[in-house]
Amino acid sequence: MKRVALILALLAPAGTLMAADAKAGEAAYAKSCKNCHGAAGTPAAAMAKMFPTMGDLSSAKVQAISDADMKKVITEGKGKMPASKALSATPDDVVAFVRSLKK
Ligand code: HEC
Repeated sequence: MKRVALILALLAPAGTLMAADAKAGEAAYAKSCKNCHGAAGTPAAAMAKMFPTMGDLSSAKVQAISDADMKKVITEGKGKMPASKALSATPDDVVAFVRSLKK
């Protein structure tokens, strides 16, 4: 039993380093993106009015943006969107979560 726990403890960090973690991305999104973009990627009416250039993250149009370009928007900002610093997950994780919003 002890050995199993040890193996799991060794595997877990390796797993998080390897693939983008949409779950961690979701937590970061809730903290850093949701206020503007909405929980499901569709901005609330008041936000859409304030930021008319902001697309619906679940839409085919935004989903057509490449991972690299999406990461750039997150790390560098775009138009009225500020760069997202102090993310609680990697930009890859956040992109993985944004992909899960696709309708
Ligand atoms: C202060 C509000 C605000 C926050 C916070 C914010 N965004 Fe944005 N986001 C915008 C606006 C406004 C645009 C449109 C930019 C433009 O003028 O082209 C945008 C654009 C985007 C785009 C490109 C698609 C498009 O509509 O042009 C993506 C992808 C995106 N945001 C993802 C994120 C993610 C992921 C986070 C969190 C890490 C985040 N945003 C945080 C306001 C915000």
